[in-house]
Amino acid sequence: MKNYSNKLYNQKIANLEQLDNYTKNLVDNIKLGDILLLMGPLGAGKTTFVKYLAKNLGIKDIIISPTFTIARNYKMPSGNSNDKYFIHIDAYRLGLFNNYSNNKKDYQKSIYDSLELLDIPSNYKNSIIVIEWGEIVKEYLTNFLADNNIIYVNINRTRGSQADETRTITINKRLAE
Ligand SMILES: Nc1ncnc2c1ncn2[C@@H]1O[C@H](COP(=O)(O)OP(=O)(O)OP(=O)(O)O)[C@@H](O)[C@H]1O
Ligand SMILES: [Mg+2]
Repeated sequence: MKNYSNKLYNQKIANLEQLDNYTKNLVDNIKLGDILLLMGPLGAGKTTFVKYLAKNLGIKDIIISPTFTIARNYKMPSGNSNDKYFIHIDAYRLGLFNNYSNNKKDYQKSIYDSLELLDIPSNYKNSIIVIEWGEIVKEYLTNFLADNNIIYVNINRTRGSQADETRTITINKRLAE
């Protein structure tokens, strides 16, 4: 992966202070129009990552997990009159349809329909969008948004003792075509 320093590309995060530093560094390496797809198992630390990212983007609002609302928008501080948004999406519930249908086509359609309501194509250019359970929406995004940067963020708890809170964050970028 070309665009990130090793410090961001693959990093062990031992505690929240290190997560704060990591996301501070990441803020300097993302821009409006970027979409971050967060991937990692239940409780990996996706929402916590979003909270620190938002803090380091200068957002003062309290970030609430959008599991039930699917998406929440926050205004980012902007130097000029143009509004900039931070959009936090949790795709978890979109993926639940899978439990009711084994038909892959129906499943994809339900995800596409839900995402269409969020109207990402007309909103992403003046936003930074972060999506928990990014793997669920990956196909939709890569089909419909060929001209943006999608950044894949993998978060995993490092194998260790129960008390060990260490996470490993890996970032990959799909460059705009
Ligand atoms: N880097 C970290 N260091 C220490 N604790 C962390 C870290 N990241 C997350 N945690 C803790 O792990 C727990 C789960 O985190 P979080 O809710 O962010 O996970 P999640 O991946 O969003 O979960 P879900 O799959 O339910 O959406 C929280 O108690 C949080 O404080
Ligand atoms: Mg979460």
